[in-house]
Amino acid sequence: MKILNFGSLNLDQVYAVDHFVRPGETLSSGSLHTFRGGKGLNQSVALSRAGAGVYHAGCVGEDGKMLLDGLTQAGVDISQVRILSDVPTGHAIIQVDPSGQNCILLYGGANQAITPEQIRETLSCFGQGDLLLLQNEVNGLEQMMSEAKERGMRIAFNPSPIDENISHLPLELVEFFVLNEIEGAALGGGKTPDEILQGLRERFPHARIVLTLGKDGAMYFDGTQTFSHPIFPVTVVDTTAAGDTFTGYFLESACRGLSGIECLRRASAASAIAVSREGASPSVPAHEEVEAFLAAF
Ligand code: RIB
Repeated sequence: MKILNFGSLNLDQVYAVDHFVRPGETLSSGSLHTFRGGKGLNQSVALSRAGAGVYHAGCVGEDGKMLLDGLTQAGVDISQVRILSDVPTGHAIIQVDPSGQNCILLYGGANQAITPEQIRETLSCFGQGDLLLLQNEVNGLEQMMSEAKERGMRIAFNPSPIDENISHLPLELVEFFVLNEIEGAALGGGKTPDEILQGLRERFPHARIVLTLGKDGAMYFDGTQTFSHPIFPVTVVDTTAAGDTFTGYFLESACRGLSGIECLRRASAASAIAVSREGASPSVPAHEEVEAFLAAF
């Protein structure tokens, strides 16, 4: 089984701030770092560091070389990434406050310049039983989902960031949802985690559903049973890419056939390590670090 992640690649401009900028306010930041990011890139790095073989597809501009270098260093196949000469690489402006929380402003750039022909050409390299992973930071998702299904591919979808376009997608084709409470409530209704999970199960009766709950851990419905796992307590430095790390580790574990609770445990440990470090993809741990972390608990 091959794993294809058709997803965003962003240059993350990360500013350390005392508090998030308020309307009308001009605020000086304490530091600025540029990191490799994008939910797509982060999840490919997490899959690969977890131990999976992964192909990343998407677009960057000519200013996106450091993103491709980062993917290659992480062991990700980048043969399906296109470099566009007329569009800049996507970027994110990220404020991180002293508690490690963030807020993110996105500019899509090349992530929104994927053509129908690129989608067709990339998907033609994959087939029956291969897994397509998607997030909501690139254009062309409807075509990707429909054509992947025609080819017999399985689809995992992290509907992040959530917006109104998602309701127009053929979500009934999705086998794996990985989403947080806000995304889950938007798609399935409900207020409490149990209600949200129940709403998602009713709307998507054939899907497996991973619901992340921030400080309250995560839940997983595997089609038969529901599992829960708490977070591992760590000192939070930067929460950027915690969800992406969780998604990559969870899917790699599920593809290897680990039990539901073991998938949650590994993914929770990996994201705990990620939040204890700065940056997006640089914070994603290698699987040896995750095994060592778990052995210490
Ligand atoms: O999930 C974190 C990511 O969201 C950042 O790396 C940023 O690029 C945005 O896509």
